Amino acid sequence: MSNIIECINLSHVYPEGFTAIKGINLKVKEGEIVAILGQNGSGKTTLVKHFNGLLKPTNGTVSINGIDTAKQTVFNLSSYAGYVFQNPNHQLFATSVLAELEFGPKNQGLSNDEIEARVKETADFFQLHSIINEHPLRLSFPLRKIVAIASIYAMQPSIFILDEPTTGQDHGGAEKIRKFLRKLQDDEKTVILVTHDMPLVAEIADRVIAMWSSEIIKIANPREFFFDLKTMEKTKLQQPQATALSNRLQNRVLNEGITLTVQETIKALEKVVNQQIN
Ligand SMILES: Nc1ncnc2c1ncn2[C@@H]1O[C@H](COP(=O)(O)OP(=O)(O)OP(=O)(O)O)[C@@H](O)[C@H]1O
Ligand SMILES: [Mg+2]
Repeated sequence: MSNIIECINLSHVYPEGFTAIKGINLKVKEGEIVAILGQNGSGKTTLVKHFNGLLKPTNGTVSINGIDTAKQTVFNLSSYAGYVFQNPNHQLFATSVLAELEFGPKNQGLSNDEIEARVKETADFFQLHSIINEHPLRLSFPLRKIVAIASIYAMQPSIFILDEPTTGQDHGGAEKIRKFLRKLQDDEKTVILVTHDMPLVAEIADRVIAMWSSEIIKIANPREFFFDLKTMEKTKLQQPQATALSNRLQNRVLNEGITLTVQETIKALEKVVNQQIN
């Protein structure tokens, strides 16, 4: 499959002179789910804002679907690569949830019927009908974030860039977002997921990109990544608890390789229990 995102020697220096990312080389294939991890201030948001043209490289290039973002407007790019802001207050601006959902499809030049269908599908999926006429700024912060995700979904972009979607969500909100990510996976969308939610990474990501001090220091699949303890320590990231448990039980209870998710760990433990019973 082709590269839908390609960064070559990308750097970004903010106007005040701070270098927030440097020397980034990265290729993302169509349909991949890529998690971007790293401590606060390591450059994650700065990096992903280049994927829909919100930021332009101060050095190097970024191509989205083969097109150099430096030559494109955010307006043109955002229909193709939708970015959900880390802080929904920086994204939402309409006076009702409905107007927020309609805004993108309207700008895409869709017919009234198509706009209505998109809004309905989105409101159904995210269960927004009961708040459809509310002012987004009157909603709780986590719900505002769901509305921000929904308004990007209504545009049906090919690439979804989600900046810490589960942060601050209660169990119900986090489950809604997990279900949404699984839907994107089924629909073979390309997803860039900035997150501190390690169980989510273990469950959904095809690849992990670890940032440290403005640079990418590791690109690996989650299984490889969560056992690179040196990088984990350097980036102050922790294994998901299920992974850590399975790691502790290796060679004593489990002998079948490390499991990453709760589901995998349960399966491995059940196998041991069944063997002992039989
Ligand atoms: N608009 C800006 N102007 C100047 N410096 C900025 C700006 N935005 C971010 N920075 C700085 O760039 C660095 C990287 O910030 P960025 O927001 O990309 O990090 P992050 O990894 O997303 O952090 P977090 O986990 O806290 O969201 C930080 O030191 C930050 O203070
Ligand atoms: Mg950030």
